[in-house]
This record gives sequence, C-alpha cells and structure tokens, in this order.
Amino acid sequence: MNNETMTYDYTVVRQFAITTIILGIVGMTVGVLIASQMAWPVLNFDTSWLSFGRLRPLHTNAVVFGFGGSALFATSYYVVQRTCHVRLFAPKLAQFTFIGWMLVIASAVVTLPMGLTSSKEYAELEWPIDILITVVWVAYAVVFFGTIAKRRVKHIYVANWFFGAFILTVAMLHIVNSAAVPVSLFKSYSAYSGVQDAMVQWWYGHNAVGFFLTAGFLGIMYYFIPKQAERPVYSYRLSVVHFWALSFTYIWAGPHHLHYTALPDWTQSLGMAFSLILLAPSWGGMINGIMTLSGAWEKLRSDPILKFLIVSVSFYGMSTFEGPMMAIKTVNALSHYTDWTVGHVHSGALGWVAMVSIGAMYFLIPKLFDTEIYSQKLIETHFWIATIGIVLYITSMWISGIMQGLMWRAINNDGTLTYSFVESVQAMHPFYIVRASGGLLFLTGMLIMAYNMTRTIAKGKAAVAVIPEPAAAH
Ligand code: HEM
Ligand code: HEM
Repeated sequence: MNNETMTYDYTVVRQFAITTIILGIVGMTVGVLIASQMAWPVLNFDTSWLSFGRLRPLHTNAVVFGFGGSALFATSYYVVQRTCHVRLFAPKLAQFTFIGWMLVIASAVVTLPMGLTSSKEYAELEWPIDILITVVWVAYAVVFFGTIAKRRVKHIYVANWFFGAFILTVAMLHIVNSAAVPVSLFKSYSAYSGVQDAMVQWWYGHNAVGFFLTAGFLGIMYYFIPKQAERPVYSYRLSVVHFWALSFTYIWAGPHHLHYTALPDWTQSLGMAFSLILLAPSWGGMINGIMTLSGAWEKLRSDPILKFLIVSVSFYGMSTFEGPMMAIKTVNALSHYTDWTVGHVHSGALGWVAMVSIGAMYFLIPKLFDTEIYSQKLIETHFWIATIGIVLYITSMWISGIMQGLMWRAINNDGTLTYSFVESVQAMHPFYIVRASGGLLFLTGMLIMAYNMTRTIAKGKAAVAVIPEPAAAH
C-alpha cells in the first residue's frame, strides 16, 4: 500500500459530522417555530412562506434528511472503513455525495417555503430534486458497497448489514414512490392515482421510518454502543436474527397508516398483523443494544455519551411498543388524526434517532479531530436538558392526543356531538405550550453541543488514522 491508501479517509466523515449538528439546529429551530405557531398562531406573521403549512415539511425534511441523513452518511462512511480495514472506495464520489446531498437540502430550504411541493409526505420535493436525490444515492451505494467489496477483513460486521439494507431499500422506495409525470419545471403529478397512490405513498412512508429512521440508526447502535462501552455486542447471533426478521417484517406494515380508508380491508388487517409481529424483532434489537452493557452497568453513572446511547435505545423500545399498539385498528380509531401520533413520532425521532446520533457524534468528533472533548460536563448538561425536553414533548402530546380523540367521539344521549371542534382546539392549547417548551429545551441542548464541539474542534487537527496491516486484521 502507498501512503495515501494506508490511512482512513476521514474528510467526508468530518464534513457530514459537522452538518449533522448544523442541520440539526436548523431543523429543530423550525420545529420550535411551528410548535409555537400552534400555541400562538400570530407567529405565522400573515406571511405565506412563514406559515405552518409551508414550514412543517421544511421541518421534517431538515431534521429527517438533513440532520438524520448527515448522521447516517458520516457514521456509515466511518464504520464501513473501520470494520473493513480499507479506505473508502472512490473518495471523489464520496465527496460528490456530500456536495450533492447539501444541494438537495438547500433546494428543500428554498422550494418548500415557496410552496413548491408534490404533496406526498416525506417525499415533498419536486421532480428535478428527486432526480438529484437518485443520482446522489446511487453514488452513495457505489461508495459503500465498493468499500465492502474491497475489504481486507473476511467477515462483514453486522452494522454494515443494517447500513447496506438502509441504502438499498431507500433507493427502491424513493424511485418507486417518486415516479411522476412532470408538467413544468416545478410541478408534477404522481404516476399513481386514488387508492394505489395512497398505498404506494405509505409503503414508502412507513419504510422511510423502517429503513431510514430505524435500520440505519441500528447500524449506528451496533457499532457505537460496543465501542463506547468497550464490550462486545451482547449476542451476535441475535443481531443476525434481528437483521433478517426486521427487514422482512417492516416492508409489509405500511397499510397501518391507512386504516378505515378505501384500501381493501384485508390489506389493512395484513398491515396490522405485521405491525404486531414487528414488536418481536424490534425488542430483540433493543435488548441486544442495552444488554451489551451487562457487566459494565457502572459506566452509565459516569459516562454521559453512554447515557445518550442507552437512553436512545430505551426510547427505541418504547416507540416500537407504542407503534404496534397504535396499529391495532380499534386503537388507531382513537389515535389517528390526533397528537398521539405526533407524540409517537417524536419519541422515535427525538428519543431514538436524535439521541443515538448525538451520542455517536460525541464519540466521533474528537476522534476525527485527534483530540479530547472540550467539556464532559457540558455533555452531561446536554443529556439532562434533552431528556427533560423529550419527556415534556411526548407526555404533553399523549395527553392532548387522547383527549382530542375522546372529545371528538363523545356523543350525548340524543346522538349529537358533546363537543364542538373548537372546544377541542381550546383544550389543547396548554399542551401546545408545554410541547413548545420541551422542544425549546431540546434545541438549547443542541446549541450547547455546538459550542462544546466548536471548542473541541478548535483545539484539534484533522486526524490521520493508519489502517492496520492484514496480519492484525480479523
Ligand atoms: C426541537 C425539536 C423538535 C420540535 C419542537 C418539533 C416539532 C414538531 C411539530 C410542531 C410538528 C408538527 C406536528 C403537527 O403537525 O401537529 C412536527 C412534525 C414532525 N417532526 Fe418534529 N420536532 C422536533 C424534532 C424533530 C426531529 C429531530 C425529528 C426527526 C428526526 C422530527 C420529525 C418530525 C416528523 C417526522 C414530523 C411529522 C409527524 C407526523 O406527520 O405525524 N422532529 N415536529
Ligand atoms: C414496531 C415499530 C413501529 C410500528 C409498528 C409503528 C406504527 C405506527 C403507527 C400505527 C402509526 C400511526 C399511523 C396513523 O394512524 O396514521 C405510526 C406513525 C408514525 N411513526 Fe411509527 N411505528 C413504529 C416505530 C416507529 C419509530 C421507531 C419511528 C421513528 C423513528 C416511527 C415514526 C413514525 C412516524 C414519523 C409516523 C407518522 C407518519 C405520518 O402520519 O406522517 N415509528 N407508526
């Protein structure tokens, strides 16, 4: 090997690690703004591009694809090199994925507030941006699988299986769901219509949860928890069963988003049944993550990074218990259309996705800059502020969601509705204030992280990590 190939390629990892924090702050700031708009509608400022309807998709795109996507790119590029003992395949292409992905996010920031949207949830971006996403994603797959192909370690570590499934499945979902007929540069119509359109959309939407917000982050869990805990994965066999069971089951559960619609009834029941089965692999994974700490529980007391990682897996367990319950048709009759769904989303999104990403970034950034963390104490502060923020967010949404559902279905003896819709909106007001406060706490934690990481990076330098010789590889 020459000098170049003897070291890991950290440039692109560093870039995505930094944008994880920046885009997290951008997306969550918009989240706090839209949460506040729901409590105080005057904050829409009577301005179309600042209105809730336009900023909500900006929030979801910025946090899911900007923040979550950057965390996934950074960690997958890091993990695949470290576990395969090779440099990234096609580093220039990897650089292209960074520039391309940032262009996608920048296009979202411009077009969504302008009201340009395909109106498909989590796939709002119009067709020219969809094409860019496809090109970037193919490049990502070439870099990732190319690196796996040239590996110098025979075994493919389980984290890479999860990252690989995430990359392949998201490619398939995006291409099928985004099929559309363009009528102008910024307007297209879906290739599907009616109930087929709904079915394809929620096959996509649910598996965006299953593979973007879950499988990829499980890849993070399987690498960073053992590393930070300095313990092997609790059960490697369970991780393999977890992988196949999760991948097989998730793909069938989409119809639980369409209960009591024109979708054939048997499809809804199938979605419900697979959602219930999904509890088993999800909890298998959660147990595997948490039990990796067995024999080292005392580390949880003193290590704030481990706190982020382990609490994230606990929230993963919670949201994957709640999800199957909400997929039961009779429960969904109450929860659908209410804030309960929004609470469920954020126990997964903040509790699981954001916490595991934050933990991984605290592990990764000092390593990428060859230095120590500036302040462990600030990580501890961040952990508590973030945790309290999430608890405020999800408990307020549970209460307001169940209250909404019960108020809407309450009827008097003569069959008339007990409450008008406006009364239910009025009843939700205090909970919206609590949710906005919880969000503000979480955002404050992110700002503390940005400060801590800026100071960390300032005292470091670009790390050069040497790849072990094949003899040392296992
Ligand atoms: C400061 C933190 C955050 C705040 C204050 C916040 C706030 C909000 C609000 C107010 C909504 C709209 C709810 C509605 O329409 O009733 C929303 C939706 C959503 N947010 Fe967040 N959010 C935050 C962080 C995140 C993160 C980190 C993620 C993902 C990783 C995320 C993913 C989503 C998703 C997927 C939706 C759509 C939910 C649905 O359609 O049911 N959010 N958020
Ligand atoms: C076993 C796992 C899970 C199951 C069976 C499940 C099930 C469900 C159900 C039944 C809904 C409500 C659908 C509706 O009434 O419209 C829902 C909504 C949602 N869930 Fe989950 N969930 C699971 C895990 C997760 C996790 C871990 C996350 C996030 C990381 C998540 C994110 C979401 C989002 C974003 C929505 C809102 C979709 C929308 O309407 O825009 N779920 N889930």
